[in-house]
Amino acid sequence: MNNEIKLKVNILPDEKEVICNKDTTILNACTSAGIMLNAPCSGEGTCGKCVVQVIEGASAPDSCEFQLLSGTMLKTGYRFACRSKVNDNMRLIIPSESRIVREKKVKASTARVLSLRPNIVKMYLRLQQPKEKAGVSHLEVLEKAILRRFGKIETPLELIRRLPNILKAANYKVTAVIMGRRLTDLEIGDTTRDIFGVSFDIGTNVIAGALININNGKEIGTVSDISFLSKNDRDLKAKITTLLRNPEEGLKELQDALINRINGIITELISKKKIRREHIYEMSAAGSSVMQHILLGINPTSLVSATHHPVIKRSIDADAAALGINLNRMARVYVMPSLSGFVGGDAISLILSAAMNKDENIKLAVGLGANGIIILGSKDRMLIYSTSASSAFDGIHINNGMLPSEGAVEDIKFNLGHKHKKGKDIELKVIGNVEPEGITSGAVVALLSELKRLGVIEKNGRIRSKEELRNSLDSAILNRIGSDNNGNTFTIYNEKRKKIALTQRDVKEIQIAKGTIRAAIEIMKGILKITDDDIMEVYLSGTYGITYNLERIADIGVFPANYLEKLEYLGDSTSIGAKMALLSKDIRAEAEIISNSVEYLDLASREDFQDEFSIWMNF
Ligand code: FES
Repeated sequence: MNNEIKLKVNILPDEKEVICNKDTTILNACTSAGIMLNAPCSGEGTCGKCVVQVIEGASAPDSCEFQLLSGTMLKTGYRFACRSKVNDNMRLIIPSESRIVREKKVKASTARVLSLRPNIVKMYLRLQQPKEKAGVSHLEVLEKAILRRFGKIETPLELIRRLPNILKAANYKVTAVIMGRRLTDLEIGDTTRDIFGVSFDIGTNVIAGALININNGKEIGTVSDISFLSKNDRDLKAKITTLLRNPEEGLKELQDALINRINGIITELISKKKIRREHIYEMSAAGSSVMQHILLGINPTSLVSATHHPVIKRSIDADAAALGINLNRMARVYVMPSLSGFVGGDAISLILSAAMNKDENIKLAVGLGANGIIILGSKDRMLIYSTSASSAFDGIHINNGMLPSEGAVEDIKFNLGHKHKKGKDIELKVIGNVEPEGITSGAVVALLSELKRLGVIEKNGRIRSKEELRNSLDSAILNRIGSDNNGNTFTIYNEKRKKIALTQRDVKEIQIAKGTIRAAIEIMKGILKITDDDIMEVYLSGTYGITYNLERIADIGVFPANYLEKLEYLGDSTSIGAKMALLSKDIRAEAEIISNSVEYLDLASREDFQDEFSIWMNF
């Protein structure tokens, strides 16, 4: 029998090969290769949306193709995928306009470009009204049309109940909303342009949301808010331990607070950009394991116990409405997998943003935040260490530290070399150009680097006194040096009853943070038996909104100075990771693999850690 002859179809530019029976339509061959084409008229040959170019093995055109395609197009192999059959081994090109999900590339970070392959697909269908005596159901008409273009899907009972009314109201012209392999909704008319999602970095200090156009991967807007955990209580462990003494209520209180923040950000995003809430079909979220547990309403107390066992490690796909998140009523929430203990989707996002899991070259990535993350390796072997000892870099664990918001000093510049009027020797760059309220960790790094260069800070971190520096500094700078109960201080602002100063305790905090990170890097290099020269690329990421000057980061010794030429700043890699997961099912699969393959190291318990730490604490 003819239809048992097997033929080969090569699909470009995807470079996919599929074996199919003779007489299979090109549309079905593409579907079995996992490539979805536009086909609103479901094979009637009237819409002309499923055009492909057959470059080898084209069949003769049929009457519909003769009618709608020009002579030149027919001659150069253009055919309708729904009409043209595979009669010979074939090579064909699918233009991006003919795809449901166009093969768009999105630049996700400085290190990563990804193909747009979202979990959500919208498909416009012009269905045939079932004839009275044909014995065909509404559901069959719908599922058959989707099967031709997309493959088998599952239709929930709730939607089946509403089906006749929707089809009647839409005059059988509907848009199917498909998530994964599930038909989640049917919308009246063609709504294929309106397909949005939100991605969230659920940080311990900052919650940052982005509104994304799923059709093209573009970020439409971002909004951030201080996390519920950092407003009144700076210690995550203490907050959780306190609130979870009564696990039921404690957890609910934390989860409600987080979800309120998320809903507030979503409302701000959609009202700013005039997007309808019902057109947001999915949310993705990444953060530490603790924050991911709280979002899902899972008790995280086991994470703060001695064993640090998480309740969940794999990714979770949850119902947004059941979590209390206000999006389309059928929307889903994807939560990133975790690595271990406190190390959650934030670390996986850093690996994905730096493309460490895709490259044979050895890369180093360091995340500065409430938890410091250090990752070294390549796709063949990767080591990770996470530490709360680096929390000075989160922006709020220093005396006048604050997150990047209005009033935060985000950069400092010294004007030296000539006599200065009071207050003109240093320039403060303040967010919002208002009176300064505090200082970000990016500005603290800048200040430390300058003070180290001027000799105000000794190698061991001690801030020298005014007397010691009397002969070497301008008086304006000198007058900024003072003292408190813990040692000397350096004041950057002292007006209108507001004083912002770097204290000896702050310097110590930064020393602990950078000493821990650097010690971890050195020990990991030893475990992998590599030198600095073997590390090809170095990436730094930070808390949402904080920027670091890379030279100054190297200046204070977070990295060796010779890393500068291979060092790049990623920005907030957790936001980037959440966005990538929203836009690509491939990224979700990669995240799962990373979750099960990266080696977590407990460096603090190693004997050599203290030795390395005491070396690298110094400036
Ligand atoms: S021409 Fe309409 S689906 Fe092919």
